Amino acid sequence: MKQREQWGSRMGLILAMAGNAIGLGNFLRFPVQAAENGGGAFMIPYFISLIILGIPLMWVEWGIGRYGGSLGHGTAPGMFDALWKNRAAKYIGILGVFLPLVVVIYYTYLCSWTLAFSVFALLGSYPNNVDPSAAMPASEYLKPYQNYLFDYIGASSGGLWLTPEPVAYIFFLVTLILGLWILWRGVSGGIEILNKFAIPALFIMGFILFIKVLSITSPVNPEVNAVSGLAFLWEPDFSGLLSSKVWLAAAGQIFFTLSLGLGAVMTYASYVKRDEDIALDGLTTASLNEFAEVVFGSTIAITSAVVFFGADGASEIAKGGAFKLGFISMPAIFTHMAGGQFFGFLWFLLLFFAGLTSVVALAQPVVAFFEDEFDWSRRKSVTILGIFFFLSAHLPMFLNGALDEMDFWAGTFGLVILALVEMIIFFWIFGAENAWEEITRGAHIKIPRLFFYIMKYVTPTFLVVILIAWTYEQLPGVLAKEDPAVWATRIFLILLLTAFLIAVKLAWKRRGQ
Ligand code: ALA
Repeated sequence: MKQREQWGSRMGLILAMAGNAIGLGNFLRFPVQAAENGGGAFMIPYFISLIILGIPLMWVEWGIGRYGGSLGHGTAPGMFDALWKNRAAKYIGILGVFLPLVVVIYYTYLCSWTLAFSVFALLGSYPNNVDPSAAMPASEYLKPYQNYLFDYIGASSGGLWLTPEPVAYIFFLVTLILGLWILWRGVSGGIEILNKFAIPALFIMGFILFIKVLSITSPVNPEVNAVSGLAFLWEPDFSGLLSSKVWLAAAGQIFFTLSLGLGAVMTYASYVKRDEDIALDGLTTASLNEFAEVVFGSTIAITSAVVFFGADGASEIAKGGAFKLGFISMPAIFTHMAGGQFFGFLWFLLLFFAGLTSVVALAQPVVAFFEDEFDWSRRKSVTILGIFFFLSAHLPMFLNGALDEMDFWAGTFGLVILALVEMIIFFWIFGAENAWEEITRGAHIKIPRLFFYIMKYVTPTFLVVILIAWTYEQLPGVLAKEDPAVWATRIFLILLLTAFLIAVKLAWKRRGQ
């Protein structure tokens, strides 16, 4: 068996896994989900989902990943095939390569916006002709900043095609090339080095912004300060607990933020040593992610929106989604904040580091698939991925609606399916005791036995309930979308999935199986 790469140090592994999890989801998606789904009350289903979905799935993915890696497989097709002696297993496993690839195609483009906006902040190029102390509704105030973003991404016309500014294309290329260069340098020589630098830097920047936001006051009414912002987000609206929408949002956020059900964690875990303490490492990385999300992610963007635009304005911004919060409201705030040029630069650089460390994590499964199952060299694998990546990213860049469609199928729906399949194959087919032994081998902490039962019964049941509820509540709305951009995206996804299924067949045929 070919010698596979390994992480250089335990610290490097933990930081890389933290970088895998901590992403744009922590700072943009989470505050919007929390504000939109009951504020403080959202944290109840959120933490329940963390305990019965997030942590168990984290351990399961580390366990499957380490097991697969020891047999020479860095991705789910080979891992499932080793766990389940069934011809279908490897084909089902292709989701662990297909899903992260679909997500990374649009995610890289989003990540490039953050790099661009950090440079724009530093250069002071955001619109600056509005008076922050004039009493006007948030929508009026934000208009120039909305136009600024829409011009950048070419969405002003609202038609079928987007026409991004050339500079957006250049920032995308820079981000893509940077990501590919890190992958080209390998697991310990590229990904690990990036994370050892980017994750501590991210925490320092998060801390500086956190302190800054806690000290700001409203330009209209100095009485309004960070306390109003914190109250806005954390004041519980318990009526939300009865709504399935709130529970689905909480579970969906846990998946996305921890990068679960995507295959990315399994691939990173395939490079750990056979007796690595994955129980503790998995818990540590989940904790780092939750700290970044619940402390920094919840505070920075929403609190400053409340201070500047009031509770109604902030509600309107949260309803407008993560882009409105991150790329419209924040530039408006930084333009009128003391030292805003610097803090704006820091905010978008933090997002860029969070994004880039997730980009490489989401792209690595494809590289590992080519290396492990086709015996291609790393450089050949990265080159083939790079060409495909570059070409396919034009879809979310130029076709209006493609990004949302890709995000739904891969980043919302697909990952629940993969997570359910993982649980069934590991705990029910490979065997619950075997799975438990895999997860706890080498562990210096004792995972309470209660988690054995949670993983065997509660997590899969919860996943089935989520899947049914999603299918019932969201699928009809998504399927009802009929415009050409949506159809073009669906055809692209079907072709890509088919190509991967054929690739699996060829890979196994090559090995005479
Ligand atoms: N886990 C990554 C994020 O939160 C994908 O953005």
